[in-house]
Amino acid sequence: MKIFFKTYGCQMNVHDTEIMKGLLINAGHTIVPELKMADIVVVNTCAVRGKSENKVYSFIGRLKKSGYKVGVTGCVAQSMSDKLKNYDVEFIIGTRAITSITQAINGTKKIDLEDHICEINATTPVLRNQKKHAWVNIIAGCDKFCTYCIVPYTRGRELSRPVEDIIDEVRTLALNGYNQVTFLGQNVDSYGKDLKDGTSLAKLLELSQKIDGIERFWFLTSYPSDITNELIDVVNKYPKISKNFHIPAQSGSDRILKKMNRRYTRQEYLELVKKIRSEVDGSTIGGDIIVGFPTETDEDFEETLSLVEEAKYIRLNVAPYSTRIGTVAAKFYPDDVPYNVKKSRIAKLTSLQHEIERMLNEKIINQEVEIVIEGNSADKSYGRTIDNRMVLIDEKIPEGEILKVRLTAFKSGTLYGQIGKVSVFAK
Ligand code: SAH
Ligand code: SF4
Ligand code: F3S
Repeated sequence: MKIFFKTYGCQMNVHDTEIMKGLLINAGHTIVPELKMADIVVVNTCAVRGKSENKVYSFIGRLKKSGYKVGVTGCVAQSMSDKLKNYDVEFIIGTRAITSITQAINGTKKIDLEDHICEINATTPVLRNQKKHAWVNIIAGCDKFCTYCIVPYTRGRELSRPVEDIIDEVRTLALNGYNQVTFLGQNVDSYGKDLKDGTSLAKLLELSQKIDGIERFWFLTSYPSDITNELIDVVNKYPKISKNFHIPAQSGSDRILKKMNRRYTRQEYLELVKKIRSEVDGSTIGGDIIVGFPTETDEDFEETLSLVEEAKYIRLNVAPYSTRIGTVAAKFYPDDVPYNVKKSRIAKLTSLQHEIERMLNEKIINQEVEIVIEGNSADKSYGRTIDNRMVLIDEKIPEGEILKVRLTAFKSGTLYGQIGKVSVFAK
């Protein structure tokens, strides 16, 4: 069969699509690059906000109208299977059942919302989108139950992969010419807790960075209170490990953090940021904020603004609160912040963040940095520094190449660089 994939949502979903493609190719199917070439379309879905979920329904609606056969996977498949049944889809496959995709495509499985995530390991075929950078899931699910969040219901409980299995996968990636790996998890820094044998993200990173060929290790996303001193030490110690911590705060108000069931206070969060900055040379911090959580007042929002001001994020994702059926917040807290208030709070945060990014990036103009090329067009390339800044250069350089560039300007949110001498690490 000729299969087209449409993927919504986070990197987990992007990687799940890569696994499903690998399994299908292995079973003799073809993955096509254009919708119009497809016998069937697989929509891998995201349910994190109302907007993400609605995009899925309208896309499926359009596909059905045009006569396509459609199968659904991902977070909407897992949480909204009853609703999806009204769309006359061929199959519904949940987030922990993606190994059923071959049976689903063959027509021998209509619905699978069970958990057989253990079937995925280092030997699972994967068709990756990129040739030099690879996503590697190290922990599935989430046990935190933030009151607004659907993810614990769509992705299930935390389950860490055995260290040896991850190391096997990284070794294979290195042998296949990959030179960057991103370890993924909803709470990547919870990795190992459920294994109860002392395994941790810090230990995994320490072991992994010994593997020849992989020049950069990234990890995403970290839950603030799960970041350990051991992790901070390991990140600081090894040059191949990214110096960027993505640690969503979600709010700067203790009252709201408590209602969100986030397990830290504003002060603990800011102390963590300070500690990372003082102990990890050249570190940067990224974050996520939700505005307009139920009952959020102007004063609460001011606290968020001042947290962002203090945290000085290199990157910040801001989202308006969206009620997710089935969550604690949906049950107990009416969505009482009007949409125009949410919008104006987003605008304020965004303009503050632009200012911070300008300040952080202008400070390093004229410096020489090392970047790994992540992508290119006919006459341009963009690459990433070890502290997760994207740099645009005016030359086409192959993906994965490592080189030194001099930073020349920061304009309209983009950091520009010029090539210096190609480094000895270049492959
Ligand atoms: N595990 C990560 C976040 C995963 S969800 C953490 O703990 O921070 C990705 C982002 O989506 C969150 O950081 C949050 O900012 C946003 N998000 C999740 N649920 C949301 C909701 N109901 N409304 C608005 N944004 C939401
Ligand atoms: Fe959602 Fe909270 Fe889990 Fe992050 S930690 S995935 S926000 S429940
Ligand atoms: Fe969306 Fe599911 Fe990821 S809800 S953000 S695709 S875990």
